[in-house]
Amino acid sequence: DYENVGTKVSKKLSDKINIITSVNAFSSQGNSYVKNSLVISTTNLRNDNKIIEICKKNNLSVIAMEYVPRIARAQKLDALSSQASITGYKAGLIVANSLNKYIPLMMTAAGTLLPANVLVLGAGVAGLQAIATAKRMGAIVFATDVRIASKEQVESLGAKFIMVEDEETRGAETSGGYAKEMSEEYKKKQSTLIAQTISKQDIVICTALIPGKKAPVLITEEMVSSMIPGSVVIDLAVEAGGNCPLSKMNEIVVHNGVKIVGNSFLASELSHDSSNLFSNNVFNFLNYVIKDGKMINE
Ligand code: NAI
Repeated sequence: DYENVGTKVSKKLSDKINIITSVNAFSSQGNSYVKNSLVISTTNLRNDNKIIEICKKNNLSVIAMEYVPRIARAQKLDALSSQASITGYKAGLIVANSLNKYIPLMMTAAGTLLPANVLVLGAGVAGLQAIATAKRMGAIVFATDVRIASKEQVESLGAKFIMVEDEETRGAETSGGYAKEMSEEYKKKQSTLIAQTISKQDIVICTALIPGKKAPVLITEEMVSSMIPGSVVIDLAVEAGGNCPLSKMNEIVVHNGVKIVGNSFLASELSHDSSNLFSNNVFNFLNYVIKDGKMINE
């Protein structure tokens, strides 16, 4: 396929390469063969400070795609959004498939079946897409976040927004649009709210993250125990420690009959579309930095 569109395919990296773009995140492991180039990739820079050493040693510059600012002008470069949106959609499909119930209301001759209840924790890009997917399937959807701005977005998708709203939530969003870590007092109030809501849910989709920090713990073991056996939790925050301490990376844990699916990067399961969107993000970035075949800063 690559050759058909005029690309040379090689098993060796030539030292004439100026720019390397990569689908997999650039990390301090396995990338040491790249030298004297500009690498454009997502990275694990927030948690992996050895990347800086590798760059110095190999004369590399790295453009970390996860640092693209969340501003209107940069939306077409925003790889976090393009991938998180796919992750949220796929999470909606996985939980629906794992549940032993219908998602929509079903009126049949043999009886009426009520629609499934879905709770989405964290209403950022992945969370909003998960809400939209669950709504399309006919679920009753609830969502929560610490950023008050997300209320309108959740409600515009037809879901019910639940939140502990107090003095602290007014300052819960950074200037970059991300959530801050909340105080212990707030966490206690939020935990009470989630505990009251969770026992009525068939599905919980966890997406809450705080950049550069451990993911907030929002569902305790006790809360999982209060859920109806057969319910499903998917924890997309598992790589950052998880919103539920029971979740395990790339595993399904069953606790009191509740399935807990730990998966943080589902975009690769829709590889066709995630590759298309990621390559568009990189292409749009290159369009800004290359003019007349030359890097602008050369
Ligand atoms: P993220 O992946 O960092 O976090 C996911 C969600 O978890 C966020 O909505 C966050 O507020 C929430 N969260 C964190 N701690 C929580 C807690 N204790 N309880 C409940 N929820 C919690 O966020 P993402 O998806 O990367 O979005 C970050 C921001 O960027 C959002 O404000 C989003 O609307 C904005 N954005 C703006 C774009 C633009 O171009 N203007 C494009 C994409 C996102």
